[in-house]
Amino acid sequence: MNTLVVYDSQFGNTERIAQAIADALSEFGQARAVHLGQTRPAELREVDLLVLGSPIQGWKPTPAMQAFLERIPSGSLSSTKTACFDTRLRWPRLLRGSAADEIARQLRKKGTEPIVPPEGFSVKGKEGPLHAGEVERAANWARLLHEKYEASQPRFAAR
Ligand SMILES: Cc1cc2nc3c(=O)[nH]c(=O)nc-3n(C[C@H](O)[C@H](O)[C@H](O)COP(=O)(O)O)c2cc1C
Repeated sequence: MNTLVVYDSQFGNTERIAQAIADALSEFGQARAVHLGQTRPAELREVDLLVLGSPIQGWKPTPAMQAFLERIPSGSLSSTKTACFDTRLRWPRLLRGSAADEIARQLRKKGTEPIVPPEGFSVKGKEGPLHAGEVERAANWARLLHEKYEASQPRFAAR
């Protein structure tokens, strides 16, 4: 399974989660985490699994992640498996918003339903650090992505 994790990150926490996901998935094939400035929308459909991650800023993904999502042509990800996550404060949903839900909504517009529900990893304050255990939880989430990806692949019946 060839995985690309594309993230935005202002203080490094989302980058750390993105890297933990890529590290865990490298057990199953090629996997890399790149900042959204280092990739092009055309590259996205060349992978088996695309994971997008952003901090929540003002209840939504960062402006750079929103602009990145807008540049992905509609329907272009219809053959790509996807998942998304955000990093966030441990506040109630109404106060914190969700970047991951918005990324999932945009992914649907591009023709793909994420293979697992949008996930969030929490930070202690605006600049971090991540709460204890979040990096390990990200690695476990990545293994779940692999399982879901494998389960989604067509199997030929044994003769
Ligand atoms: C301008 C700004 C707005 C923010 N707005 C929210 C918010 O609406 N909800 C939330 O949970 N966290 C909010 N945060 C905290 C971010 O979630 C936190 O900075 C982020 O998870 C850190 O990730 P990073 O290190 O990758 O930038 C905000 C942070 C900044 C800088």
